[in-house]
Amino acid sequence: MILDLKDLTALDKQHYLQHIIGPRPICFASTINSEGGVNLSPFSFFNLFSIQPPIVIFSPSRRLRNNTTKHTLQNILAIPEVVINMVTYDMVQQTSLASCEYGKEVDEFIKAGFTKEKAIRVRPPMVKESKAKLECKVLEVKPLGTEGGAGNLVICEVLHMHIDETLLDNGKINQRKLELVARLGGDWYCKVSAENLFQVAKPNTQIGIGVDSLPESIRQSKILSGNNLGQLANVHEVPAVHPSFDDEHLKNIFQYYSINPAEMEKEVHLYAAKLLSEGKVQEAWQVLLATDNIM
Ligand SMILES: Cc1cc2nc3c(=O)[nH]c(=O)nc-3n(C[C@H](O)[C@H](O)[C@H](O)COP(=O)(O)O)c2cc1C
Repeated sequence: MILDLKDLTALDKQHYLQHIIGPRPICFASTINSEGGVNLSPFSFFNLFSIQPPIVIFSPSRRLRNNTTKHTLQNILAIPEVVINMVTYDMVQQTSLASCEYGKEVDEFIKAGFTKEKAIRVRPPMVKESKAKLECKVLEVKPLGTEGGAGNLVICEVLHMHIDETLLDNGKINQRKLELVARLGGDWYCKVSAENLFQVAKPNTQIGIGVDSLPESIRQSKILSGNNLGQLANVHEVPAVHPSFDDEHLKNIFQYYSINPAEMEKEVHLYAAKLLSEGKVQEAWQVLLATDNIM
């Protein structure tokens, strides 16, 4: 399916874009109005854009339904300060509750059952239950349009961070311990839990050889996936064959399939793919190189 955005209704644009562009982190924004009334609302049009200066941006949109603006935006235009409370799995249902369209005078901390905690540098209170919160000053609000659905970029400088001690190992955040949630399309969310986290090795100083520099037999493999090729091509140079490399399983493959080279290559590639799925890139290379040598 190919879609031209100019032919879509606003609701369809929302449907496709919000399902495709995800998961989006959730900024649970606490703001105050000029009378000191507190507001707390979630926004998933949100991300980190700069480290120096430390800038995050979120976007309270004009409502599609009636083109009205959100209390959060009105508050920020009056008092340009916000606390961004990060949302973890244990608080996602209450966070969603806070997104109800309560009246201006209603304090969503009370409605959603969260506890206020005083911030250090800004006036809006923090959500005590949130394990990571950012005290921010608003540098600029940039409207992206005047129609319903138009976003308003709230460009924030982070002044202070509060990080729960339970997330830390030697002063650094253990990603496995911070069960962030993120928004997808419609009612879908996802949970960043230890079981679905994985790491991708990214050398910063050394440049990977690239898929185009892989030996032909690897590049044309019917077994090795795009991810497998990406891992193999991320090495700085094609590794040398290690004469000391000794692998029982590989020896068995060589023996068993000695009269059938095509089957042998298939088995070796399956074995290399298994090693790669375990993060054993150097071993996978040795297995593939050893096979190239005997074939
Ligand atoms: C997880 C989540 C993410 C949301 N993200 C956005 C968003 O990025 N932009 C937006 O305008 N509304 C978003 N909403 C809807 C607002 O939270 C909702 O309109 C809320 O009533 C605004 O409150 P306010 O008028 O008190 O600021 C989101 C709702 C939820 C539950």
